Amino acid sequence: MSCIIVSSIPLIFCFIMLGITCTVIDTVGGQPSYSGFISIDCGISSDSTYIDSITSIPYVSDDQFINTGVKANISSNYITSALERQLSTLRSFPDGSRNCYLLNVTQGEKYLVRASLMYGNYDGQNRASVENPLLFDLYLDYNLWRIVKITDAAEVHRPESIFVASADTVSVCLIKSGTGIPFISALELRLFDRNLDPYTNETQTVALTYRYNVMPTTNRSIRFPDDIYDRIWEPFTWHSDWNMISTTSSVRSNFGNYFKPPSAVMQTAATPTNSSHLLFQFDYVNMGALVNQFYFVFHFSELVPNTTRAFNIDLNGNYWFKNCSPPYLVATFVCSAVPDSDSLHYQWSLDSSGVSQLPPILNALEVFTPIYHTNVPTDSGDVDAITTIMGRYQLEKNWIGDPCAPKEYAWDGLSCSYNSNSTNIETVILSSNALTGVISDDFGMFKQIKYLDLSHNNLTGKIPNVLGTLSSLRVLNLSGNNLSGSVPDSLLQKSLNESLILILEDNPNLTCTNGTPCKLTAEIGKAKKIPILVIVMTVCVVVIVVFLLVFFFVRRRKAKSTGGTLKLKARPFTYLELKKVTNNFENLIGKGGFGNVYRGSLSDGTPVAVKARSQSSEQGTKQYFAEVQHLIRIHHKHLVSIHGYCMEGNYMALVYEYMANGNLNDHIIGKTVSDITSDWKKRLQIVIEAARGLEYLHHGCTPPLVHRDVKSTSILLNEKLEAKIADFGLSKAIQNDTSNVRTADSLLSRGIQYGVTNTTASDVAGTPGYVDPEYCSTLEYSEKSDVFSFGVVLLELITGQPPILKAVPDGMSYIVNRMHEMLRRGNIDAIIDSRLQNIYDINSVRRTADLALQCTSDVPSERPTMTEVITELNESLKLQTSHERTINFESNDSLQTRTNEISQSSAPEIEEFSSLSAR
Ligand SMILES: *[C@@H]1O[C@H](CO)[C@@H](O)[C@H](O)[C@H]1NC(C)=O
Ligand SMILES: *[C@@H]1O[C@H](CO)[C@@H](O)[C@H](O)[C@H]1NC(C)=O
Ligand SMILES: *[C@@H]1O[C@H](CO)[C@@H](O)[C@H](O)[C@H]1NC(C)=O
Ligand SMILES: *[C@@H]1O[C@H](CO)[C@@H](O)[C@H](O)[C@H]1NC(C)=O
Ligand SMILES: *[C@@H]1O[C@H](CO)[C@@H](O)[C@H](O)[C@H]1NC(C)=O
Ligand SMILES: *[C@@H]1O[C@H](CO)[C@@H](O)[C@H](O)[C@H]1NC(C)=O
Ligand SMILES: *[C@@H]1O[C@H](CO)[C@@H](O)[C@H](O)[C@H]1NC(C)=O
Repeated sequence: MSCIIVSSIPLIFCFIMLGITCTVIDTVGGQPSYSGFISIDCGISSDSTYIDSITSIPYVSDDQFINTGVKANISSNYITSALERQLSTLRSFPDGSRNCYLLNVTQGEKYLVRASLMYGNYDGQNRASVENPLLFDLYLDYNLWRIVKITDAAEVHRPESIFVASADTVSVCLIKSGTGIPFISALELRLFDRNLDPYTNETQTVALTYRYNVMPTTNRSIRFPDDIYDRIWEPFTWHSDWNMISTTSSVRSNFGNYFKPPSAVMQTAATPTNSSHLLFQFDYVNMGALVNQFYFVFHFSELVPNTTRAFNIDLNGNYWFKNCSPPYLVATFVCSAVPDSDSLHYQWSLDSSGVSQLPPILNALEVFTPIYHTNVPTDSGDVDAITTIMGRYQLEKNWIGDPCAPKEYAWDGLSCSYNSNSTNIETVILSSNALTGVISDDFGMFKQIKYLDLSHNNLTGKIPNVLGTLSSLRVLNLSGNNLSGSVPDSLLQKSLNESLILILEDNPNLTCTNGTPCKLTAEIGKAKKIPILVIVMTVCVVVIVVFLLVFFFVRRRKAKSTGGTLKLKARPFTYLELKKVTNNFENLIGKGGFGNVYRGSLSDGTPVAVKARSQSSEQGTKQYFAEVQHLIRIHHKHLVSIHGYCMEGNYMALVYEYMANGNLNDHIIGKTVSDITSDWKKRLQIVIEAARGLEYLHHGCTPPLVHRDVKSTSILLNEKLEAKIADFGLSKAIQNDTSNVRTADSLLSRGIQYGVTNTTASDVAGTPGYVDPEYCSTLEYSEKSDVFSFGVVLLELITGQPPILKAVPDGMSYIVNRMHEMLRRGNIDAIIDSRLQNIYDINSVRRTADLALQCTSDVPSERPTMTEVITELNESLKLQTSHERTINFESNDSLQTRTNEISQSSAPEIEEFSSLSAR
């Protein structure tokens, strides 16, 4: 049972203020004042303002408080004469997961903030229903304020909270967390008295659950100017057997009343008609609060003169407050001193006590719930630093609210460390942000910074010494600027003792200690003989960082979309976003070495495949980096494209375009039946497309790439049965420098440019059956290794058989050997896939077979290039096409006959091969 009276705060007592006659209604020139109010009607045109006809409060447009989102009007079906003006327009936020309004406040003052939301089918989509509610989150600064759940388009939601400002601004953030596009109709801020609402202080915020005017004279809510703080008192009529009593005399609140209910609310009250009990109940489930913890506040005032009224208050049958006897025309209250929390139902009963001449009364009531501060706000020093820097370099970013909290919505370009007692900025990436001027000393204010990237800006002047004092700094990338002067010794020293990776390339006028131009981190390797392992590890770190930087770089490029060199659209996803994209990883469509692949769709409906790294996948990390590195760099019609990536702690995932028709192998073997299964021409077209993708890798992009894992399962098909090469996890850049002497320099520059780590034994590429024999013996790879594998794919396409047949004696188990043997016997027909039902031209197939054998030659130099492969395949296609044209002139009958003939004479089954080779 909770109780009421607290010693430290004189919260309650009926009668306590009896006899004190001072009036507390604040008035300015006789009129209540709305100074200290900010009243925003979201979605009205940008410079319009108006005076609300009910409250006489002036409202302004939200344009000066936010620059994201789109304005909308509710559907005309929901516009009625009774509709408040603010509800007819709104602003919705289809883009971005976090959008914030920023309001100016005075630190230390107490405020009421209230959002109003009415869906009104503004988008014509009828999204709000009981079955499919519209769901999203509201945050007040960095704390969850309300989970908005809308089930009815006409329903008005008014989340309200009372808080003490902890800074000079407060942010109200709408966060896409559920199924709905967030929106808001109005936002109001009201300055409170500091001693109003005893539940709110510097460390505690409350949200309003109910505020009721009991038994009102009208159905209208009471608010400003009747309530000088513009609280909204909704009408509350519980029972038909309640009577209203009222007075025309005003009811005053004296200075000891911590709630100061307006007189208009207190002038009416409920009293039971025929009994001495006033009963009512609240149900936790229906109260919409984040926690089952409630502060109840009951307001009483005697409205009948010269009488004695006294009653007890029970909660769920237990004594809560005894002998309350309200004073005449003076507002008093009884309230919870600590939250009531031990029930799902709060059954209240007000019962006359002995001496009473009249039954109990109730004038008004309020219910609040605490908002717990679950996120530790970002360290104020770090906040100062980042906001100073934002102003200093005039960064145009959607940086509003707390930089690091809530964690899922940290500012873009930052990452943070979260401890129980502090939250600090750890990574600042401002690469390619067109920063100009000198490097500000403010960067020295980040006490816990580990990664600082200011590369590819127009920064000039000296590198400030203060950067050398940042004890946690691990990576400093200043490359691609116009810095000059000499690098501070403190930085060079850290770089030498390997506690700092210092990247200074492309600053022509920067000098190192001896006055010579600085190159890059490789300096370390020269200065000291560091074991190769250390360098390799360093390279990995650099690679990871560079990888991150590349993303941000790409993102920036994308954001600016200045039509530059990169036309890429890869973006980072958070784990939560991916969870949403894949509908909680519901639709598993494949499994690979890296992990599971799930089907999903982006918010705009674009279907995607999400490849999530499984925790057990050891090679995962490296392949992940390689794949992302390559995919964001290359872009070709016949290479699968990437929508984004996710790297959150250990969790890694890639988001690809969705390839509706799976992999080529499934079509060849008939697991998925399509034209490819039965039509030779279609098979040729598919491999030509795949060959184009590979040709681009080998000859079209800089630096060229070797795929290293070409096989029929890494050729994917989209809904139009167009082929694209996938699985870049093992791809490598081809070095022009063929020297095998791997100096720190060459390793680093390779690492930095291409994100390639060194070759190790565990790094052996490829899939058995497709791997070039040369590679197997030397571990040397070249584009010719891909050509070999591609030749194997051609052989699969011709024979419909896997590269390696089990249960076949050694010599013949391998597809290349089988093909050689059949051709030696001049028996091409015998090896052709029996699934090829339609007409094929035997010369076209033969020509393709010859090409496949050339591709799979043991000697790499004898293999054609991919360009030559395409030319040759096109010749095969021409043969097939002209053959079909000839056939079409013939009669249907003969066509039928020919088809039968062919299918009868076509490929023997596996058994036949074993007997064949046994001979
Ligand atoms: C909303 O309605 C007003 C008045 O009819 C119109 O001027 C305005 O363009 C509408 N706004 C939108 C976003 O449709
Ligand atoms: C908020 O305060 C800042 C700084 O005083 C001022 O520049 C800005 O215009 C104010 N914003 C609004 C909407 O009043
Ligand atoms: C704020 O209020 C809470 C709950 O009433 C109380 O526990 C806390 O000590 C108060 N903090 C301050 C700074 O007064
Ligand atoms: C209440 O009683 C007092 C004296 O006890 C009297 O002066 C006053 O007029 C009475 N008020 C009403 C409204 O009857
Ligand atoms: C915060 O907590 C960490 C350990 O979690 C501790 O090392 C550090 O001293 C604490 N800092 C403060 C300011 O309490
Ligand atoms: C850097 O400055 C130079 C000269 O001031 C200018 O030509 C160039 O466009 C700037 N680059 C960026 C990225 O702002
Ligand atoms: C480097 O310094 C020289 C001479 O001080 C100057 O002429 C040149 O413009 C500088 N280069 C850059 C890129 O700032």
